[in-house]
Amino acid sequence: MSTLDQNPTAPRPASSASALGDPDVVPTYAPVPEGRARRRYAVVGTGHRAGMYVGAITGDHADVAELVAWCDTNPGRMSVYDAEAGEALGLGGPVGLPQYGPDDLERMIAEQRVDRVVVTTPDHSHAALVSRALRAGADVVVEKPLATTAEGCRTIVEAAEETGREVVMTFNYRYAPRNSSLRQVIQSGAIGTPTSVHFEWVLDTVHGADYFRRWHREKENSGTLLIHKASHHFDLVNWWLDDVPARVFASAGLQFYGAANAESRGMGERPARGTGSTGDPWCLDLTRDPRLKALYLDSEHHDGYLRDQDVFAPGITIADNMSLLVDYRSGVRMSYSLNAHSPWEGYTVYVNGTKGRAELTVVERGAVVVGKDGEVVLDASAIEQEAGTTSTRPEGQRLVVQRHWEQAEDWTIPAGIGGHGGGDAILLMDVFRGDLRTSEDPLQRAASYLDGVRAVAVGIAANQSLETGQPVIVNDLDLGIDLAQSHN
Ligand SMILES: NC(=O)c1ccc[n+]([C@@H]2O[C@H](COP(=O)([O-])OP(=O)(O)OC[C@H]3O[C@@H](n4cnc5c(N)ncnc54)[C@H](O)[C@@H]3O)[C@@H](O)[C@H]2O)c1
Repeated sequence: MSTLDQNPTAPRPASSASALGDPDVVPTYAPVPEGRARRRYAVVGTGHRAGMYVGAITGDHADVAELVAWCDTNPGRMSVYDAEAGEALGLGGPVGLPQYGPDDLERMIAEQRVDRVVVTTPDHSHAALVSRALRAGADVVVEKPLATTAEGCRTIVEAAEETGREVVMTFNYRYAPRNSSLRQVIQSGAIGTPTSVHFEWVLDTVHGADYFRRWHREKENSGTLLIHKASHHFDLVNWWLDDVPARVFASAGLQFYGAANAESRGMGERPARGTGSTGDPWCLDLTRDPRLKALYLDSEHHDGYLRDQDVFAPGITIADNMSLLVDYRSGVRMSYSLNAHSPWEGYTVYVNGTKGRAELTVVERGAVVVGKDGEVVLDASAIEQEAGTTSTRPEGQRLVVQRHWEQAEDWTIPAGIGGHGGGDAILLMDVFRGDLRTSEDPLQRAASYLDGVRAVAVGIAANQSLETGQPVIVNDLDLGIDLAQSHN
């Protein structure tokens, strides 16, 4: 079982796959005190993302964590995980953990004496599940985004404040060493006081398209990509600048995916789903990936969840091109854009300051190319080798710092460990053994629900701005907490 994967369609840059980390970004942890009981975990939402946590609990962190129950609406997916966990634990068969539906969350927590719940369900369900788990007596580890609406934020804040229980937000992008390095550059004062940020993220025609195949494509499920995806990016900016958003103006549209766009480009009749289609690079055939097949295709008779719908079908209620202007409390202003149908994937961030400028450029996948059979080839280097060519956009990362009156300099990005830009494995150490850390993290990467609210605040404000055509003051959103307050 992969412990590192984020999404099967996301790029997996080789530059992030180091096994040895740099001590600057890889913290140290004390050994587990003798005789200490393992924490009892239940996983709520046994889709693809849960794999990273289940892999960690049955692998590297099995000495501090124990799986005790599954909770999902789909018994098929829970059974797939039960079998995988049994294999990882060397049991020679399924573990046979009890399975619960979401209506029985409280009963599960009581019956199985759950200490911590991992919430990896679709975004819109986080608010209710997190707050219910807290009130039922468990701590929570929750995937981004914390919630998709202002009401959802308030629900979680109230439950967390009333119960005093812990909510761990898993912002894995913070842990990617290149992102940590930009924080170090800003913290060091090398570029002076930040004044403005220009941030562009492009998702390619494989990974970007994937948000238009299933639940994400409806605003009520994902809150749009400005919450589902960009909450990662807005968290990074909040954290890089140590600042909070104050005002947001947004403009966005569905200009590429969806039935109307396909029709206007004369694309003709489309298959309703990817599985079974051949020679169409927009199609995701679930039978080509045994894990996707087991989790989704083989489990769809339980609930009708189709993982591979056509990206040019009707019913999409989110945008694929988004532009924002965001003002921060300190006076920093940001222009941000997100595109979901780019021919390559990665991002560029430019931070201007009173003493100079920092520029982070990351290419996660340089190209999405199509093979002779008409299918997407995720590793373009194989085709390059065959054709004897090289890409002019190689996968890589570069952080350049230039101070006024000086030449530009490359800032060394330390090596991380694991996938997702070298961040997931370090994140998991913080999640599962944060209490054993032997030193403070100068990068302050561990995130709480306060950071979760700060991150979705921009997307919630942007969605409101899209509805009204007006800029939105973040303080007026009533998110249930003062964003400028410091962590407990
Ligand atoms: N940090 C990252 O990089 C990253 C990457 C991928 C996904 N995610 C997040 O992880 C979460 C899950 O994503 P995914 O791709 O695995 O989604 P998914 O749809 O593949 O899996 C979600 C699972 O939750 C179950 N479910 C739905 N409603 C439920 C409910 N009310 N109670 C219990 N279970 C329910 C579904 O049956 C499914 O098994 C999302 O919030 C997503 O934003 C984060």
